[in-house]
This record gives sequence, structure tokens and C-alpha cells, in this order.
Amino acid sequence: MLFGKTILVTGVASGIGARTAELAGQMGADVIGIDVREPAGNTASFIKGDLSNAAGIAGIVAQLPIRIDALANVAGLSGNTGVASTLSVNFYGLRTLSEAVVPRLREGGAIVNVASIAGYGWRANLERAKTLTGIEGFPDVAGIVAQHGLKDEEAYPLSKELLLLWTMYAAHQPLFRDRGIRVNAVSPGPVETPILKQFRAVLGDARVDSDITRVGRAGTSADIAPAILFLASDGARWINGANLPTDGGLEASINAEVLGF
Ligand SMILES: NC(=O)c1ccc[n+]([C@@H]2O[C@H](COP(=O)([O-])OP(=O)(O)OC[C@H]3O[C@@H](n4cnc5c(N)ncnc54)[C@H](O)[C@@H]3O)[C@@H](O)[C@H]2O)c1
Repeated sequence: MLFGKTILVTGVASGIGARTAELAGQMGADVIGIDVREPAGNTASFIKGDLSNAAGIAGIVAQLPIRIDALANVAGLSGNTGVASTLSVNFYGLRTLSEAVVPRLREGGAIVNVASIAGYGWRANLERAKTLTGIEGFPDVAGIVAQHGLKDEEAYPLSKELLLLWTMYAAHQPLFRDRGIRVNAVSPGPVETPILKQFRAVLGDARVDSDITRVGRAGTSADIAPAILFLASDGARWINGANLPTDGGLEASINAEVLGF
């Protein structure tokens, strides 16, 4: 499904991004990895760049080839650096990169956003999410944080709520739709990567442990990578604007509790 395809993978230096790049390479894709840190292992092609600001993203885009088949937006922060930096990387930077890559994405190409079960509250917080996703371009994020009174402790879930809403919105925006570019999300539950330790500090052990207990174990990067690559492939050609929970049944279990069935 991926043989000969060119796939960009952000967050390639660690965890889910590293495994996604490795698996895509094993499936015959040409992978271009992007990260603010150098990957320890072998990534055939790597662009060092910072997705937290417009200049960093422009520098990355300038180094990309003219034809790309898919973009996997995996890079992310846990929220432990505060709400402005987390929104900058997890949402505004991701969206800026996605929009900037469109001219290079082939017709029928794909964007896959790694969201999270932590974004589950997007419906409950819909008005806030609509307002914050409605701000175009790469905004003055510190100004937004001050204007809307956004708190550091809500940084991570908020960033993923915005990402889930935007995934659905982008799927039928002319910028993407007119060229048949699909935009989907994968939402993991807790996954054993370096970021999980930070989630324990930010969200609390109780929340993380309760999520793990519901489904019997934490996920691994190897559980998430195939879902990302499926949505990036032509095998998912009729899937657009969808969120694929990739969490061992965690979201289903929370739905059952919240909706009472
Ligand atoms: N691990 C989990 O429990 C879990 C659960 C749900 C969702 N996720 C999401 O999965 C994605 C990958 O997380 P992971 O678990 O592999 O974490 P990780 O910390 O192992 O990897 C994240 C990568 O993003 C890169 N990155 C961070 N800021 C960047 C920036 N400004 N520019 C470029 N690269 C940057 C880091 O350098 C790192 O290599 C994230 O979006 C995360 O929110 C993870």
C-alpha cells in the first residue's frame, strides 16, 4: 500500500513517530523524517526543524521535495511546558505545516493527525474549540492564551480538542477537498513512550492508570503506527474527516460510561 510513496513523518526522533517512520520504510515508502531533535537511529532522510513557530515551519517546507504522498503529523508536546508552547506545536504549528504542504501533496494524498483520547472533550467544549480553531494562520499564541484565559493544566487536552475539530473541518475545506486530499486523525490512549512519564506528571497517575486498567495494558508505538499508515495509504481512500481511536477499546469504554449503556 505504501511502496514507492513519499511520506513525511513529524516527531520522528522518538516514540510513535520513530516507529511510524520505521514501518513505512519497511513497507517500501521513502520517508522524510522531521523533528526538532536528531533521531538516534537511521532515518534515510531527515530535516531538523522546529514546528513551534512560523519561521521554523517555513524552513522545513523549503527543504521538501515537490511531490509528497502523505503527511503524518505525529510530533507533540505533553503540556508540561505550558499552554502557549503546547498549542503552538500540537495545533497551530501542525495546521500551518499541513496547509503549507498542500501544494506539494499529490491529488488524492493524505494527512494523518495524531490526536489523543485526551481530546475526548471537544463536544463538551465545542464553542471554545470553534473560536480557537477559527483563528487563521500562525497566530500570536501567547496573546490568545492571555485573551481567553487559557490555563497551563488544560494545555494538552485543549490542544487535542482543537486538533480533532479541525480534522473534521479541514476534510471538507476547499484547500484540501478540491485536490482530493483526505484529512483524518488517529487517537491513541496511553502509549509507552517517553511522553507518558510527562503525562503522569501533567494529568496525574490516577487518570493514566485508570485508562490503562480499562483496557488491560498501555499501548506501544507498534500498536499505533499501522493505524497511521493505513489512513495515509490509498487503502483508506474513502475515509475522510474521521477519527480512528487506536486505544484497545478505551474510548468505547468511556462512551459506555458517559452515555450510560
Ligand atoms: N504516548 C502517549 O501516551 C500518547 C497518547 C496519545 C497521543 N499521543 C500523541 O502521539 C504523538 C507522539 O507522541 P510520542 O508518544 O511518540 O511522544 P515522544 O515524546 O516520544 O515524541 C514526540 C516527538 O515530537 C518531537 N517534537 C516536540 N516538539 C517539537 C517541535 N517543536 N518541532 C518538531 N518536533 C517536535 C519531539 O522531539 C519528539 O521526538 C504526540 O502528538 C502525542 O500527543 C501520545
